[in-house]
Parts: sequence; structure tokens; C-alpha cells
Amino acid sequence: MDKERLLERLNWFYSLELNQVDLYKSQSKAFQNDYTGRVFERLAVIEQGHVDNIGAKIRELGAQPTRLGDVIAPMLGHLAGKIIGATKLEEVLKINTMIEFKAMKDYRELIKNLITSNYGSKDLIKLLQDNYIDENLHTEWFKTKLSELQTTEFALKQVLL
Ligand SMILES: [Fe+2]
Ligand SMILES: [Fe+2]
Repeated sequence: MDKERLLERLNWFYSLELNQVDLYKSQSKAFQNDYTGRVFERLAVIEQGHVDNIGAKIRELGAQPTRLGDVIAPMLGHLAGKIIGATKLEEVLKINTMIEFKAMKDYRELIKNLITSNYGSKDLIKLLQDNYIDENLHTEWFKTKLSELQTTEFALKQVLL
């Protein structure tokens, strides 16, 4: 690990977090009459916190945070179009979980890389771990909500059949 590579990675996270702010903001509007809409609104605030804390680390390293554009679409490949089109809460939750999983995987890799190469301050590693924990909590909420929806659907089918 060197400074250039670290900045490259941090800018990638900076962009991903920005994309997630936009995504959760638009989802909070789409589900604004639901509790879920409020949760998405909170998630957008938390992801904005990640944008800001990573942006601050990039500046500490003497660089300017740079938005790399849409990093979510390439990550999802053929599913990308579904993000904009997804109106069904179940689909939205599945897509969100995929994105959070990818964020967690990449945070884990960067943390491991910094520790094994003995590069980066303790503060930076702690910050990345804290962001990782937030993503982990988001994922767990999505999973709980999804299984709640599926259980209701199942129960309804039992009654109707
Ligand atoms: Fe985040
Ligand atoms: Fe998250």
C-alpha cells in the first residue's frame, strides 16, 4: 500500500457513499408514507456521514475528494436498470443489500490491506471499521424487513389458498 493507492481506494469509497446517499434519498421519497421511507431517510444521513468522514481523510492526505461518477451501476451489471425501475419494496431491499455487501467486502479488504502492509494511521483504520459496522447494521435491517415481507406474503397465501 502506498499513498497513491490509498487515495484511489478512498476516492472509490467516497463515490460509493455519495451514490448511496442519492439512492436512499430517492427511495425515501418513493416510500415516504411508510416507516420504511423514514428508515431510508436516516440511512441517507448516515451515508452522508461516511461521505464526510472519508472526504476529511482524503483532505488530511493532502488531496481533494473526487467523485468518480456512478460506481453502483457497473457493480450491479445487468441489474443496474432495475435500481431506477424498482418500485417493489422487496426488490429495493434486495438491491440495497447487494450494494451494502459490496461496500462491506471492499471495506474489509482495505482494512486488511492496511493492517498487513502496516500502512495508514490507527484513526483511519478505526474510521473504516466504524463505517463497516454501519453498513453491517443497514444490511441486517434490510434482511429483517425482507423476511418480514416474505412471511406476510406466505401467511396471506396460506389464507387465500
Ligand atoms: Fe456507507
Ligand atoms: Fe450503508
